[in-house]
Amino acid sequence: MALYSEKVMDHFMNPRNVGVIENADGVGEVGNAKCGDIMKMYLKIDDDVITDVKFETFGCASAIASSSMATELIKGKKLEDAMSLTNKAVAEALDGLPDYKMHCSVLAEEAIQAAIDDYKSKK
Ligand code: FES
Repeated sequence: MALYSEKVMDHFMNPRNVGVIENADGVGEVGNAKCGDIMKMYLKIDDDVITDVKFETFGCASAIASSSMATELIKGKKLEDAMSLTNKAVAEALDGLPDYKMHCSVLAEEAIQAAIDDYKSKK
């Protein structure tokens, strides 16, 4: 069996929503101390709905695919729904990640939560 699903490869090779949002309403940056990978998430929020989201990830294929999928999952969603997005849901949407790569999807969950916390702290 291939190490990565087709969806992981697709989101790694053609990541969605890569970039920066100038004047973002919330920005979250998290890192994994062990591997040194970093993920930064930018949110544009209007009336508690995520109207736009972009990310920058300096990391492994799983981290990039997870960030890409996570942005797709929260775009257009309410803050409370985005807040409850788990890394497991991100991995499932990617048709799975190898067990030893699950921690990479945790970065996506944490980056979104950090960006929402940032937004709330500024309100
Ligand atoms: Fe660091 Fe995947 S190995 S996030």
